[in-house]
Amino acid sequence: MRILALESSCDESAAAFLEIEGGRILHLEEVVATQAIHAKFGGVVPEIAAREHSVTIPHVLDVLAQKVVGVADGRKLGEAIDLVAATRGPGLITSLKIGLETARALAFAWGKPFVGVNHIAGHVAANWLSGAPLEFGTVADAEAFPALALVVSGGHTELLLMPRQGEYRLLGATRDDAAGEAFDKTAKLMGLGYPGGPKLAALAKHGDMTAFEFPRPMINEPHYDFSFSGLKTSVRYFLDKNTERFSDDKFMADVAASVQSAIVETLVAKAIRAAKAEGVKTIALAGGVSANVELRETLVREVSRKLPDVRLSLPDFRFCTDNAAMIAMAAYFRSEGGKKFDDWTDAGADAGWELGR
Ligand code: KG4
Ligand code: ZN
Repeated sequence: MRILALESSCDESAAAFLEIEGGRILHLEEVVATQAIHAKFGGVVPEIAAREHSVTIPHVLDVLAQKVVGVADGRKLGEAIDLVAATRGPGLITSLKIGLETARALAFAWGKPFVGVNHIAGHVAANWLSGAPLEFGTVADAEAFPALALVVSGGHTELLLMPRQGEYRLLGATRDDAAGEAFDKTAKLMGLGYPGGPKLAALAKHGDMTAFEFPRPMINEPHYDFSFSGLKTSVRYFLDKNTERFSDDKFMADVAASVQSAIVETLVAKAIRAAKAEGVKTIALAGGVSANVELRETLVREVSRKLPDVRLSLPDFRFCTDNAAMIAMAAYFRSEGGKKFDDWTDAGADAGWELGR
């Protein structure tokens, strides 16, 4: 089965081609273009993002066609596709529409079935793109579920229980800022620029995570919700009191490491508790913040120490932040391997689409 997927929910314009046969990935091609323009505004500006997508989506499609059929020819690309997919939500409504409406029009023009994908389901599906340990196919699937997905992106922080592939039950979510936002906002307070997550993580490498004590909100409460806005406020007060130390590289690295540690510890503690309570076989990390090395290493350490029988899946670094390969993979699961499709005439953008509620 050959899938074309488009992703445009935020500030990445992406297209991918995924060929799956007999439970094996035979061929994967992808193109991702990140919109650089938002850096000067310190965050994604929705109206600008949508305009950029309308310029970039045709280009990524062209480049993808060259990779897949050797020429930027839509008719030839159409002949090489069995299923067209796109992100329907959640995300920025006008941005979503650019990729989604392009995909729907292609499905109609090519006479191919269409599947609209949930962006978070895409992040989770990225775990199945990397091969081991979640190779799909019936045996591996039986061993993988029930699974727990720890979703940590710029807009979402969620613990999702997956009784089986494609089924989600929300155990808990952030009540305010997402984990990615906590990284981005504290990075901004520290003057590190945008996008702040990777910058804060890079600075934290040289710092001492025990240097300063920042709050770990709700870490010991029995529910699975998160709250990161208090952490941001506490960092702001702390920085306001220490402005004269901003030029001290060691101080800034220590702050970065301490903030990162507060976020990571909270995420890992709740995920371990939920995994234990639900008796899952797998913990799968998902979303842009899954690229964070401290989070990955802490999960590896804590899962092997506290849940030695649970398998931990970490997506490949190239599939952590927004991309279309993960959307193609999720489309494969949503279509149940090419058996169930959405009506393309009735698959409009759903900016607030929530999984598992
Ligand atoms: O999943 P994603 O690409 O977009 C959304 O769906 O939101 O996630 C983007 C988020 C941003 O907040 C970014 O700062 C964060 O992921 N991020 C990181 C790292 N790489 C990306 N946060 C911490 N450490 C990283 N290495
Ligand atoms: Zn995302």
